[in-house]
Amino acid sequence: MNSRIAGVIGWPAAHSLSPKLHGYWLRTLGVGGEYVAWPVRPEALESFITTMAGKGFAGCNVTIPHKEAVFNLLRKIGEVDDTAIHAGAVNTIIVKTGGILHGTNTDVYGFTENVRPHLTGKNKAVIFGAGGAARAIGRALIDLAFNTIIIANRTLARADAIGQQFGRRLEIASWQERAALLENSDLLVNATSLGMAGKPPLEIDLSSLPGHALVTDVVYTPLETPLLAEARARGNPAVDGLGMLLHQAAPGFAAWFGVKPEVTDALRRYMLA
Ligand code: ATR
Repeated sequence: MNSRIAGVIGWPAAHSLSPKLHGYWLRTLGVGGEYVAWPVRPEALESFITTMAGKGFAGCNVTIPHKEAVFNLLRKIGEVDDTAIHAGAVNTIIVKTGGILHGTNTDVYGFTENVRPHLTGKNKAVIFGAGGAARAIGRALIDLAFNTIIIANRTLARADAIGQQFGRRLEIASWQERAALLENSDLLVNATSLGMAGKPPLEIDLSSLPGHALVTDVVYTPLETPLLAEARARGNPAVDGLGMLLHQAAPGFAAWFGVKPEVTDALRRYMLA
């Protein structure tokens, strides 16, 4: 097989950690391929996508601000799978035989793989936030068969929209109620941007959170968010958000380069260095 080329499209694209991540897998697995950052302006997006198969690219990741636009485009000129339809966004494009552009979304998979080994119960989960990340996590928790899933967001209408999309398998709650929701829960997920470097911390009273409950954060800069630090300090198990990023990248790599990569401690250390 010829050396295959994949990459990430975004605007800007320089901030993306994907080239470092895929570069690590290419080197350590001895795969003869290349993974690059493609800065693509919004006005150049359509021409990039429609010409990528002809240039021989194996596919690409899609990052901010293109995920929804690529979804809408591939619905017309390619194909999108159910996970992309649920997310309303494409984060991975695979060029199939014959140049067919296949769009998928690997965030649900990434979240699930990251938390599954650490889950301490599957009765009740609470999600904070109602953006794209929260939507993927809602889907993941439904698939994991949690009995009760509650989503709380500052803007209630956004939580309500996700609740409706999932046929009311998700309950919604106001932002003010968030501390009380933690009672009897097995899992707390922060899917807001609060706690990210440069943003305010997530203000939350954890006193109702059972001691066994797992706490996880989609924010991974810093790795140890104030939420995770507080959870660990009171003895709760906690999983940081870097693993979700690493796991969501694996299906794309496997499709483009033909080798299934692994998320290891060595990879985590390399990404943090
Ligand atoms: P993504 O697609 O990455 O999930 P997003 O759509 O920008 O990102 O969503 C960010 C989330 O953080 C939202 O749930 C947002 O709440 P709103 O829907 O009310 O905007 C939440 N968020 C950001 N700043 C916040 C703040 N100061 N207080 C509470 N929630 C906040």
